[in-house]
Amino acid sequence: MLELKHELKLAKNRDEKARMNFVSGLRAHVLNDMATGMRAVWDADVEPAFRRARGRGPKDGPEVHKAIKPNEYFKFYSSLRVTAQDMVWQSVFPPLERNRPALKDKAAKLGRAGKARGSLTLDPALEVPRSVSAIDVHLMAGNYDGEYEEGDLAAGALYDNGLAVFSFGLMGQNLDDIGQSIAGFIKLKYPDLKPRRILDLGCTIGHNTGSWKDHFPEAEVTGIDVAAPCLRYAHARAEAQGRAVHFKQMDAQSLGFPDASFDVVFSSMFLHEVPRKGIEKIMAEAYRVLKPGGLMLHMELPPNSQLSPYDAFYLDWDGAYNNEPFYKPFRDCKPEELCWRAGFDPKKYLQFVIPSIGWYGEQVWREAATRPIGVDNDKTGRLTDGILWYCFGAFK
Ligand SMILES: C[S@@+](CC[C@H](N)C(=O)[O-])C[C@H]1O[C@@H](n2cnc3c(N)ncnc32)[C@H](O)[C@@H]1O
Repeated sequence: MLELKHELKLAKNRDEKARMNFVSGLRAHVLNDMATGMRAVWDADVEPAFRRARGRGPKDGPEVHKAIKPNEYFKFYSSLRVTAQDMVWQSVFPPLERNRPALKDKAAKLGRAGKARGSLTLDPALEVPRSVSAIDVHLMAGNYDGEYEEGDLAAGALYDNGLAVFSFGLMGQNLDDIGQSIAGFIKLKYPDLKPRRILDLGCTIGHNTGSWKDHFPEAEVTGIDVAAPCLRYAHARAEAQGRAVHFKQMDAQSLGFPDASFDVVFSSMFLHEVPRKGIEKIMAEAYRVLKPGGLMLHMELPPNSQLSPYDAFYLDWDGAYNNEPFYKPFRDCKPEELCWRAGFDPKKYLQFVIPSIGWYGEQVWREAATRPIGVDNDKTGRLTDGILWYCFGAFK
């Protein structure tokens, strides 16, 4: 299990650490070893049987899913993965319950007016969309917005500590490998962009928002989300790390910012948790608040249209078994069409896959910025050999 380094991390006893380590190890086993085993079962047994029966290979992810569903290895993989996912959150609850009052105190001190570098603006009148308030996404009890006392920030702590268990080190020490890899890449690749105002949509606890401040210290960086408990935690977390970031409670479908007010509008791992109609509104809002010449960029799971049927099935597993109802509809979209429909010029569309700075190291990551950007069919869907981040977007 990854140990968070910042001041808000939960104090854990030996048993709690052991439990978290066990869950991280179990997840690593399922997602590395068993996933490799399942692929071998597909190649050796299930796919040949499919070909014999149909005289062709599967044409898409759903056909792979249907064919592999009765397979015992798939059932074992899926049940262990669901169990491990539930255990991620269960492993955080005991230390979270014990630390709750202390956490609130620390957050209040860190965010004290006059001392804080950034800010927190909540909107108690905001209606949290049903796509957040009505489900426990990826089995996270209470979801992002669950509040159980005044000024509650437990959902933020649950997410931060849960992600540390869930990611078994693959997201970087500060859980910000995505932000560090992408914000740094944009700075290398587009040195003339020099953004003055940067917006992160669906920022949750701001773990990837802060990276923009690191790479563009002169810029004003704002993260928005609908979930107040996560934003309270995000604010305290950024302050604990000495980052001036402004967090605002807002719905990305109707942003409370004037037209043409940002140079970069970013999101990471956000759109796949939004219903299809909401995505269209969010893209239109991103277009509206971007300045001419500004960049909209979404880091996301790669679209099914760019993956082999097996990889499409594998990535869509969450849609079927991990309480992610909007996952597959998003991955079935064509990202370029989302951009065009929002008003972006097709000639200014871009997409790329970049190496994770933490996984591949700085040299490989830097080299990627010297090559023409784009996607590579060999790499977009690669699941086991390293970590690559897929992004799409457009200049306005
Ligand atoms: C998977 S998390 C995003 C994770 C984070 N951006 C990252 O880099 O890991 C999705 C977030 O989107 C937020 N969200 C969902 N719908 C939203 C909306 N319409 N407007 C703003 N935030 C929204 C949720 O509250 C949640 O915090």
